[in-house]
Amino acid sequence: MTRHTLSIWMAALMLAACGSGAPSAPDSATQQRAETLRPTNAALAAQYERSCMACHAAGGSGAPLTGATARWQPRLAQGMEVLVKHATEGFNAMPAKGLCNDCSQADLRALIGFMIHGKDDTHASTQ
Ligand code: HEC
Repeated sequence: MTRHTLSIWMAALMLAACGSGAPSAPDSATQQRAETLRPTNAALAAQYERSCMACHAAGGSGAPLTGATARWQPRLAQGMEVLVKHATEGFNAMPAKGLCNDCSQADLRALIGFMIHGKDDTHASTQ
């Protein structure tokens, strides 16, 4: 690798670090709320408790917390399709399908809607 390529790499790494390191740690009220929230749909709640919750209700995981709508807004701005795609394929530290192997695309969509709003997204179907 030439010096030139190396410096481009360094610049890219620094940019990446800035982009991901910006948000401060969630406050404890947001954290406690995230721990108690569950989808009312029982099947969805089971999937949520088995997978998403481990990271999305845990401060320090780097995952946007359930019900922390403001944290989700910039992500939602990409469009719901992008969020579903990232949840399906994985995105940085977010594992593919959020480690929920029996989650369908519709389930993932409903789980994302729930996590964004902190309650079941009535527009999303779990069928
Ligand atoms: C092992 C931990 C972990 C689990 C389990 C997990 N996530 Fe995530 N998730 C993350 C992290 C960390 C991020 C933030 C990734 C980033 O922005 O770099 C994230 C981000 C996301 C995003 C935002 C992607 C974007 O484009 O901004 C969605 C949507 C998401 N997760 C959905 C889910 C769903 C649905 C489940 C359960 C089926 C789930 N996650 C389970 C760790 C996890």
